[in-house]
Amino acid sequence: MDFFQYQNNELFAEQVAVQDIAKEYGTPCYVYSRKTLERHYHAFTDAAAAHTHLVCYAVKANSNLAVLNVLARLGAGFDIVSQGELARVLKAGGDPSKVVFSGVAKTSDEIAFAIEKQIKCFNVESKAELERISVTATQMQTVAPVSIRVNPDIDAKTHPYISTGLKENKFGIDIKQAFDVYQLACALPGIEVVGVDFHIGSQLTEVEPFLAALDKVLALVDKLKRAGIVLKHLDIGGGLGVPYEGEKPPHPSAYAAQVIDRLSNYSELELIFEPGRAIAANAGILVTKVEYLKPTTDKHFAIVDAGMNDMLRPSLYQAWQEIIAVSPRTDGTPEHTYDVVGPVCETGDFIGKDRVLAIQPGDLLAQRSAGAYGFTMSSNYNSRPRVAEIMVDGETAHLVRARESLESLWHGEALLSE
Ligand code: LLP
Repeated sequence: MDFFQYQNNELFAEQVAVQDIAKEYGTPCYVYSRKTLERHYHAFTDAAAAHTHLVCYAVKANSNLAVLNVLARLGAGFDIVSQGELARVLKAGGDPSKVVFSGVAKTSDEIAFAIEKQIKCFNVESKAELERISVTATQMQTVAPVSIRVNPDIDAKTHPYISTGLKENKFGIDIKQAFDVYQLACALPGIEVVGVDFHIGSQLTEVEPFLAALDKVLALVDKLKRAGIVLKHLDIGGGLGVPYEGEKPPHPSAYAAQVIDRLSNYSELELIFEPGRAIAANAGILVTKVEYLKPTTDKHFAIVDAGMNDMLRPSLYQAWQEIIAVSPRTDGTPEHTYDVVGPVCETGDFIGKDRVLAIQPGDLLAQRSAGAYGFTMSSNYNSRPRVAEIMVDGETAHLVRARESLESLWHGEALLSE
């Protein structure tokens, strides 16, 4: 459930009319709801209350400082994949001792930065990375806490671009080799083994693949324990899906309850979740204005001011996200089936296809479920300044990222000196 609802035929974000936000800050803009973020975070923590746990929000889903700050205030941990994400977490008041560092290509500088900030754990993706962390930690005269990301070879049944737990994917260490890598980790001077992790993909709509992966990983935990390698935590990654188009993913509480059920004999293992989308997606909308209506012999195009540079998911994954009118028309404007397309010079520039809408130029549309992998995947393609981000908190709308200026487009660029 989210807090974007109609009141008297006007779309509201919590208690603020979306139309008023657009008037004040212009379009396109992302609008987030604090209450929705908090609700989704609590869905995980409440459901997991019976087991020691930590929710490490996946920063890549939405890394706006205000979003991170709202979650940090609730005690959230963070899953990061770069030095930049760690810097953001720190800037937003996040606690580094609750940060796990994922990602396949951590550089020596990034590793050193994270060691210096005393993060909770490195989620290690390869033997070579493990050795690099050990060298860096040893040079810094310390030991680095690590978890091995195992690849359990489970089909997450999601889009191939966001499936990560199959052995043909670049992520993690083959679960069959994991035991040997743990033994190596224990022998390395700069390493302290603290956990195990996996992440099999994103936008999963069934709980079975998670449980199948969990069973394989628990078997590994048992084997390690028999060999005297006792882990402190088990990190089951993120990946829980959201309903974009009638999908019925398990509710976070049902998902967490089933996971915890499997852990009844592992009370000593702290459980870590890394949800991104399940927390942020439905906590945001993208507001865009209809610039032109363009009927052709074949189609009706609604040309809007948001493009694939602002919201890439439909173009990249053929993702479907609901598009609704901010102030639905009641004046008899005819409905047509529109392709909702943007200003970018690419045929793949659309935010929705085949949408039945009754609209006129100047109308505002809202693309729902845009809070995750929306702004964070945006770019300046076609020299378009990135859009404003607004967070609503009850009756107040806060500008949490200003629209980029034209000057910012060439920030750091230089002309040749002669
Ligand atoms: N942990 C790890 C190690 C990850 O790689 C990811 C996402 C997450 C957690 C969070 O997954 P979530 O709970 O959000 O599913 N851009 C794509 C999604 C890419 C996900 C990448 N990894 C999209 O827009 O659908």
